[in-house]
Amino acid sequence: MGKIIIKTPEQIEKIRKSCELAGETLLYISEFVKPGVDTEYLDNKIDEYIRKNGAVPAPLGYHGYPKSSCISLNNVICHGIPSKNIIIKEGDILNIDVTTILDGFYGDTSSMFCIGEISPVADKLVKTTKHCLNLGIQQVFPGNYFGNIGFAISRYAQAQGFSVVYEFCGHGVGVEFHEEPQIDHISRRNTGLLMKPGMIFTIEPMINEGKPKADIDEQDGWTARTVDHKLSAQFEHTILVTDTGYEVLTDVSNEYS
Ligand code: MF3
Ligand code: CO
Ligand code: CO
Repeated sequence: MGKIIIKTPEQIEKIRKSCELAGETLLYISEFVKPGVDTEYLDNKIDEYIRKNGAVPAPLGYHGYPKSSCISLNNVICHGIPSKNIIIKEGDILNIDVTTILDGFYGDTSSMFCIGEISPVADKLVKTTKHCLNLGIQQVFPGNYFGNIGFAISRYAQAQGFSVVYEFCGHGVGVEFHEEPQIDHISRRNTGLLMKPGMIFTIEPMINEGKPKADIDEQDGWTARTVDHKLSAQFEHTILVTDTGYEVLTDVSNEYS
């Protein structure tokens, strides 16, 4: 077992900058997300914007991953590979996940995009998932158990009739793409390690309409789909534990401040 990195003020400042760029990249791409565009086009725009801002996209080449972002439509839980053949249409819900490396430091965030009029269940799933992330963030303060993040998220998601993906988790981030600890989105109250000021990690709940289980595409080795082909949604932020609570480092819209 390794160790959770407590970031220094100098590291925090650089991670904050990378996180801001990741958040700004999501704002930038939002105007291009519309019916008729393919997800490779969006990936190219994301790649271009990140590089223009002096950073590099972390996914590209990560364990052999072939693109600069993950774009996951409808029944895709996560790690959707952008492609010319995946074309966005009215009624779709999709997650775009951006991770930047700026001056050697990582920022990781993702958001859902809803295309035109979506079904009532899709709308409820997206809103529930966003609220799950918010509930998780509210559990971030020094001395709290990491398990309380997954407890808050899973209790709410399940009360809404949805399920929580357990095969993918949040993670420490900043110095590396994926650091300790693993952040479970379903867990028991007052379990796990304790949060300390200077820890930085993601919370990124994936919530399913139906069964929680993921099925990895045998061809590409990445795309994780719901086993029952029902919908999945996800939101992600990078969070710093401060002396008094949290700072959402990827929140460029000031939703949390
Ligand atoms: N950004 C994803 C996360 O939130 C990880 C993507 S790994 C990749 O952890 F290789 F698919 F890019
Ligand atoms: Co992440
Ligand atoms: Co991510």
